Amino acid sequence: MRHLMNPLDFTVEELDTLFDLAVDIETYPAKYAHACEGRKLATCFYEPSTRTRLSFEAAMLNLGGQVLGFSDAGSSSASKGESVSDTIRIISCYADICAMRHPKEGAPMVAAERSGIPVINAGDGGHQHPTQTLTDLLTIRALKGRLGSFTIGLCGDLKFGRTVHSLINALIRYPDIHFIFISPPELKVPDYITDMLHDKGITYEEVIRLEDSISQLDLLYMTRVQRERFFNEEDYVRLKDFYILNKEKMKLAKKDMLVLHPLPRVNEISVEVDDDPRAVYFKQAKYGVYVRMALILTLLQSAGQPCNLCQ
Ligand code: CP
Repeated sequence: MRHLMNPLDFTVEELDTLFDLAVDIETYPAKYAHACEGRKLATCFYEPSTRTRLSFEAAMLNLGGQVLGFSDAGSSSASKGESVSDTIRIISCYADICAMRHPKEGAPMVAAERSGIPVINAGDGGHQHPTQTLTDLLTIRALKGRLGSFTIGLCGDLKFGRTVHSLINALIRYPDIHFIFISPPELKVPDYITDMLHDKGITYEEVIRLEDSISQLDLLYMTRVQRERFFNEEDYVRLKDFYILNKEKMKLAKKDMLVLHPLPRVNEISVEVDDDPRAVYFKQAKYGVYVRMALILTLLQSAGQPCNLCQ
């Protein structure tokens, strides 16, 4: 039985297979409409979410399965002091697979160690968000036609942004990637990541102004300043509008540069950019459903529960 804690849990070849499956699901949805009949997905969300929780639920419903769960730790027995380990042992009696989001780094990993069903890390603190990374990679592959040979700018909160940490981890396995980290000094990408890039001989630059590097980019990955991870409101208020991507800045970019964002957005992308064909963040959210459908099928299969399609 397999879990997904980190994008590196899948090899590059396994990711290719997963993305091929996601594309097949997008192309032939009817083929998969009963694939998970009789199966249940539990969504255990100890932190707020719109896209991740609802796209997991949509994914399971699209596969003919059912969903149960909670969207707030306060409405679960965590509020009475129940541990994640105990909760997952109970969820394992009720569901076939679980997607878990938790504010504490490593909590889904603790759950996976005690679980009788596959556990998917749906975001743990400022650490990892592997299914967002699968979504990002599928979007890039679908819209650019390749995963490799590009310059990617990651802009905004690179310190607390778990989507950024997961995406860097995943991209370093593809050839000829150059990173440009665009952040205020207070929100720089953590040293353990730049140390790792240095050790692997992967090229990167760290800059402060988006205007200075946007013309070099094939991909621009915007992120929100993570208010919930700040220690004080004053720092958040000072940094929250540090970057605002607008039409003027888009004029400096390549004609085929793509703008991605894991969403939710606050102010970092002006709504006037939404109509630019290079702005693909809403398409990206849709790819998230297909890749989560592919992931549910793959992990259930690993747990000895092949989908109805395969039987
Ligand atoms: N991208 C993402 O994780 O969004 P949610 O927090 O709404 O799930």
